[in-house]
Amino acid sequence: MRSASGQSWKWTTLLLVLAALLCFVDRAASVKENDFKKCHQSGFCKRNRAYADNALSQSSTWTSPYQITPESTSFQDGQLQAMVLKKINAEGGTVRLPLTFSFLKSGLARVSMDEERRQNKDIELRHNSPIRKERYNEAEKWSIVGGLDLDKEAQLVHQDNTQIVVKYGPEAKYEAAIKFSPFEVEFKRDGTTHIKLNDRGLLNMEHWRPKVDKPEGEAENGEDESTWWDETFGGNTDSKPRGPESVALDISFLDYEHVYGIPEHTGPMSLKQTRGGDGNFAEPYRMYNSDVFEYILDSPMTLYGSIPFMQAHRKDSSVGVFWLNAAETWVDIVKAKSSVNPLSLSKASTSTHTHWISESGILDVFVFLGPTPQDLTKKYGELTGYTAMPQEGAIGYHQCRWNYVSDDDVKDVDRKMDKHRIPYDVIWLDLEYTDDRKYFTWEPNSFADPVSMGEQLDSHGRKLVVLIDPHIKKQDEYVVSKQIVSKDLAVHNKEDNIYEGWCWPGSSNWVDCFNPKAVEWWGSLFKYDFFKGTLPNTFIWNDMNEPSVFNGPETTMPKDNIHHGGWEHRDVHQLNGLTFHNATYEGMISRTKGERRRPFVLTRSFYAGSQRLGAMWTGDNQADWGHLKESLPMVLNQGIAGFPFAGADVGGFFGNPEKDLLVRWYQAGAFYPFFRAHAHIDARRREPYLLGEPYTGIATAALRLRYSLLPAWYTAFFHANRDGSPIVRPMFWTHPSEEGGFSIDDQLFVGSTGLLAKPVVEQNKDSVDIWIPDDEVYYDYFNYELMKTQKGKSVTVSAPLDRIPLLMRGGHIISRRDIPRRSSTLMRFDDYTLVVSVSKSAVAEGELYVDDGDSFDHEEGQYIYRKFSLSDNVLSSVDAEDRDTKSIKPKTWLKAMQDVSVDRIILVGAPSTWNKEEVQIESEGKTWTVRAQYHPAEKGRAAYVIVGRVGARIGADWSITLA
Ligand code: NOJ
Repeated sequence: MRSASGQSWKWTTLLLVLAALLCFVDRAASVKENDFKKCHQSGFCKRNRAYADNALSQSSTWTSPYQITPESTSFQDGQLQAMVLKKINAEGGTVRLPLTFSFLKSGLARVSMDEERRQNKDIELRHNSPIRKERYNEAEKWSIVGGLDLDKEAQLVHQDNTQIVVKYGPEAKYEAAIKFSPFEVEFKRDGTTHIKLNDRGLLNMEHWRPKVDKPEGEAENGEDESTWWDETFGGNTDSKPRGPESVALDISFLDYEHVYGIPEHTGPMSLKQTRGGDGNFAEPYRMYNSDVFEYILDSPMTLYGSIPFMQAHRKDSSVGVFWLNAAETWVDIVKAKSSVNPLSLSKASTSTHTHWISESGILDVFVFLGPTPQDLTKKYGELTGYTAMPQEGAIGYHQCRWNYVSDDDVKDVDRKMDKHRIPYDVIWLDLEYTDDRKYFTWEPNSFADPVSMGEQLDSHGRKLVVLIDPHIKKQDEYVVSKQIVSKDLAVHNKEDNIYEGWCWPGSSNWVDCFNPKAVEWWGSLFKYDFFKGTLPNTFIWNDMNEPSVFNGPETTMPKDNIHHGGWEHRDVHQLNGLTFHNATYEGMISRTKGERRRPFVLTRSFYAGSQRLGAMWTGDNQADWGHLKESLPMVLNQGIAGFPFAGADVGGFFGNPEKDLLVRWYQAGAFYPFFRAHAHIDARRREPYLLGEPYTGIATAALRLRYSLLPAWYTAFFHANRDGSPIVRPMFWTHPSEEGGFSIDDQLFVGSTGLLAKPVVEQNKDSVDIWIPDDEVYYDYFNYELMKTQKGKSVTVSAPLDRIPLLMRGGHIISRRDIPRRSSTLMRFDDYTLVVSVSKSAVAEGELYVDDGDSFDHEEGQYIYRKFSLSDNVLSSVDAEDRDTKSIKPKTWLKAMQDVSVDRIILVGAPSTWNKEEVQIESEGKTWTVRAQYHPAEKGRAAYVIVGRVGARIGADWSITLA
C-alpha cells in the first residue's frame, strides 16, 4: 500500500515539477528588459521629460506657468492655504489648484496640491467608466501612521505681494519662503538654502481636458495629443478614462552631491545621474512595482517594490524628501557644479537636481531638513512607522528552495541539518506544497501529514513558512474561489466585473485588499480550523503581490482595473503589495481567539510603510558574483529608506552557484538582516551539508557566527523599531562627516555594535580593503589583531575562503551567545558572552535588548534592556532606560530570564594594568571574585583578558572592577 501510494505521489510530484518548469521556460522566454517600458514608451514620462527639455533649453526665458494669487493665501495653526493658478493659454485661461502647506510638529513640511475641478468631480469620464473622478488622495491612509500634528508655533514672519516666509521646526531654525510668481519654494535651515521646489520650473499638473481627436495630417507641434488618452504597449491598451493627469515637480538639493534611497533598484547606493553621459544612466529611475524576472544589474529599471523617500547628503548635513504618490513614478537625477566666484578659494560644489514624475494622484511632498541622517530616518519612521519587532527565529537562518517536495523531504532536510550540526530556524515551502496551486490547501499525496512535519520542526524550536499568493485559482469547487466571487472581494476589470488574469494556477482572480471586507475575510483564512495542517509555528510568505499577472501589461494588472472605493489600479498600484501584506499580517496576528502573536510575513512587493509588517527580499537574483555584489548596496539602501529587514536570496535564485560563490554568499548573507537561502525549482539541491568539505564547514562557520551574534542583531532590530536606525548601516550614516565614505556601499556596521564587515563578493579574492572612517582602534574580530589603521584610508584584511573580513571598532560592547545550538529558540535561555572592544581611551559602551521574541508583552515592559559601559577601569551594566525594573511583575519569559547570566567577558585591547588573576564583581548587594586570564599583546595581536563564569544576572545591575 505504502509503496504504491509512494509511487503515485512521486509521479504527481514529477508532473507538477514538469508543469512548473514549462511555465518557467515560457515566462523566461517572454520576460526581458524590453518587456518593460522605457520613459519614451510611457506617455506621461515622455511628456514630462519633454516639458523639462523645453524649459531647460530656454532657461533664461522660461517661466513656470504656475503662480499663487496673493489674495488667496491664509495662514493659521501651522497651515497655509493658497490657490495656485496654472496658466493654460495665451488668452489668460487658468486652472485652479488648491495648495496646502502644513508645518508639522516633527519639523517636517508637507506640500500638497490638488486640482479643483477634479476635486469637485466636474469632469467627464470616457468609456462610461464607473471610477472616481478625483485625483487619488488616500495614499496617506496606508502609508502614514503618525507625525502629522501641526506645528501651531510656526510663524509667518514675512508677507508681501511676492512671497510668504514661515519659520518653523525646533527653535524655529527652519524656514520656507513661498514665492508667488512663479510658484516656487525655498527651504532653509539656519539661514542657508538646502532644498528648492520648482526652481527649474518643471512643476506640471496635467489638468483635466476633453479628449482631443487625432489631427488630420501632421500634428501642429509635431505632437499628436490624441495619444494622451489611449496608450498601447506590448499589445495591451490602457483606456485612461480620466485622460492625462500626471503630476511632476523638480526638487533641487543645493550643494548636495549625493542622493540615496528610492529603492528598489540595482546599482550603487549613491544614485547615479539619469540624463546620459559617461557612466550615467540614460533613463530615469523608475518605480512601478513589477515582477521583473531575470533582472539586470546596475540599472534604473523598476523592481518589485518602491519607497519614494530620498535623502541628500553632504559633509555634516542630510536633508530629504518623501514623495507620497502611489502611482507609477519616474525620477530623473542630474548633478551640476555650482558656479563659483573665480576669486574665491573654495571648491566648486555640486548640487543635485531631481525631477519627480507620477502618472496620477495629488501632489504630496514631505520635506526633511535634517541635519543628520539619524534625524531623517527617525522622522521618516515617525511618519510611516518603524520596523516591526520580529519573531525571534526570523532573524536566524532560513532554509528555502522551490521546492521541498514532500513533508518527508522537509523532515529529512531538518534531520540532515542536525546531523551536520548546522543551525537554522525556518524551513520554507514554495508553491508546490499546495493542491494544484490552491492556497490554503496541501497537495494531498506529498504533503499528506503536514501536522507531523510541523511538530517535528517545533520539537527543536523551528518554524515553517508557507507561500500564499494573492491570485486565487478560479475553480467552482475551491471554497476560497467560491467565496471571493460570492462575496465580491476581488479586483474588478474596467467594466466593473471581477477581473480574471493568468498566474501560477492558471485563470485567477485577485483579492482586493483595499477593501476592508476583503481584509477581514482574508484574515479569517489563516485560522487554524480553516487552514488545516498549520500550527502556531507556521508563518507566511507573500509573493507575486506587485501583483504579478502573467498575461497583464508589463506582467502586472491593467491600470484601468478598478479597486474598492472606485479607484483605478493606476492610482494605487504601488500600494497593492502593501495592502496584501497588511491583510496577511492582520490575519496572522491572531489565529485563535484571544491570541496575539507577532506575525512573520515576508513580502516581495512593498511601499512606504511596509516595514511595519515584516521582511522583504530582493526577488529573483542569479547565482553569479555580480548579483552577490549588488546585494549589499540593495540591502543597505533598504535600511536608509526605512525598510531595513531585508535580504537577498543566498546562493542566487537562478542557476547553480559554484561552491566558492555559495560559501561567499553565506558569509555575506550572515550580514543581511533577513538571511535566507533560496533556489529556483530548476536549480540543483544546495543545502549547506551537500557541499562537502571544506565548503560545508565554511558555510556552517558563517551560520554559527550569525547565531552567536543573534543578541547583537536582535538589539539592532530593536533600535530600528524604536527610532528607524538601519539594522546594517552604511558609512555615510554612521560617519556623516567623512566624505571618503559617502559612496561606499560594500561594507557595513551591524547596528551600533561597532562590528564592521566587508563580505568578499568577488571570485579568487583572498583579501579586501576596508575603508576606515575614524581615528578609533580596530581589531580583527576573530584573532584580535590590532589593525594598522588610519582614518580615511583603507586597511587590507586577509580573507581566504574561510575568513569573513570583520573588524571590531574600539569603544563597543557586543553581546553574544556562544553555545552552538540547532535553532535560536533553543538558545533562548543561554548565558551571554560580552565582548568589550576597548577604545583608544580605554572606554566602551554597548546595549542589549531582549524580549520573548513572540508576543506583544514587550509593549507592557516584559523585556530586558541593558546598557553596558566601561570607564575608569570599571565595567558595569545598568537598565538602559533607568526603569524601576522591580516594579514590573514578570511573566513566564521574564521569570525564566532571571536565571540567565553573563558567563564570559572578553576584553580586547586590555591595558597591562588589567593583568590580574581575579576580578571583583558587585551585584544585587553581593560581592564576589572570579578568575581572569590576561593574554599580553604579541605579534600584532592586542592584549586581551577573559573573565570567566561571571555569574551576574543579565537583567540585574552589576559592576566589575578591572584594576
Ligand atoms: C517568484 C519568487 O520570486 C520566487 O522566490 C519563488 O520561488 C517563485 N515565485 C515561485 O513561487
